[in-house]
Amino acid sequence: MIKLNDLYFKPFISEKEIDSAVSKMVTEIANDLQDEVPVFVGILNGSFMFVSDFVKKYPKPCEVTFIKLASYEGIKSTEDIQRLIGLTQDLTGRKVVILEDIIDSGNTLEEVHRIFKNENVDELKIATLFYKPEAYKKDYKLHYVGLEIPNKFIVGYGLDYNGLGRDLPEIYQLKTTQHMTNLVLFGPPGAGKGTQAEFLKDKYNLVHISTGDVFRFNIKNETALGMLAKSYMDKGELVPDQVTIDMLNAEVEKNADANGFIFDGFPRTNAQAQALDQLMDGKDSQINAMIALEVDDEVLVKRLLERGKTSGRKDDADETIIRNRITEYYKKTAILKDYYTAQNKYFGVDGVGSISEITERLNAVIDKL
Ligand code: IMP
Ligand code: MG
Repeated sequence: MIKLNDLYFKPFISEKEIDSAVSKMVTEIANDLQDEVPVFVGILNGSFMFVSDFVKKYPKPCEVTFIKLASYEGIKSTEDIQRLIGLTQDLTGRKVVILEDIIDSGNTLEEVHRIFKNENVDELKIATLFYKPEAYKKDYKLHYVGLEIPNKFIVGYGLDYNGLGRDLPEIYQLKTTQHMTNLVLFGPPGAGKGTQAEFLKDKYNLVHISTGDVFRFNIKNETALGMLAKSYMDKGELVPDQVTIDMLNAEVEKNADANGFIFDGFPRTNAQAQALDQLMDGKDSQINAMIALEVDDEVLVKRLLERGKTSGRKDDADETIIRNRITEYYKKTAILKDYYTAQNKYFGVDGVGSISEITERLNAVIDKL
């Protein structure tokens, strides 16, 4: 992923794919033109890299020239095409091939046709490396197309976003979701996960998704997914991962403009971690870190017994139950610790100390992500 000005872009078309698209166009055009010496007209600025690679591959003599037009503002095509440099040579009777980096709305192409209307060229052909069929609104024939692409904004290989990105050797696509910080938060019972999640939520403007809460919410409100989950629970069966993922997806969608999410209580298994990765990937995003609060067992037991005295929670009152819960936690998280460690995304944070000390440790980890 890269950042240009204020926006994030993800890899889309590799150097190799571009190279074979250019080669394909060279072959087609060279076959059609036979022994004519064509004039290739690049449309600046975007086409400089394409034209350069194209003519280097072109197997026969040719001429190269440029005209300079400008239409784009930021990430939007405009109707108003500016002619910055026009034709500087007589092309009467010549075979002309326009080399465009990309054809989007077709406004620029219309201007090109306007420029050539009175030039008396023998033949005018249009070649574009990239073409967005869904965006194209004109009727001019495109004689040669390198790659058809979806109607999304791209940069690289000559194409820019507000001046940046032209130098990149491969193509990147604008991310539909901008940068998010997504955390998977772990901690044994009594580690202070809930307390810390509250602080993180406020400081980083994240949405806290506690799987337990999401389940309770869906079941209580009798949503379709809630009813589905309940049907499994009533039979004493585990709710399938896909149902849980669908619920989480709904939560993520509800908060599409969030700076990120804190996942709490999910994933619990490798399969779930993979499903969560897929979900985030579908949102052009990712899990950035698994953060686990690490607290010594004896400290946890003491904290929970203390809490049990006032909370009234039965599972906080019995030391054996407490120890079992802690053991269970480590059994389950060990797998996930491995999963996220393999991606360099596991961060253990010392969970012993005052609340604000622990918050500071967590902040230090997140600020470095
Ligand atoms: P059109 O006039 O809308 O067909 O757009 C053609 C020109 O707009 C191209 O020559 C580019 O300079 C620019 N353009 C169109 N789509 C993109 C894009 O996805 N990224 C960067 N520039 C683009
Ligand atoms: Mg252009």
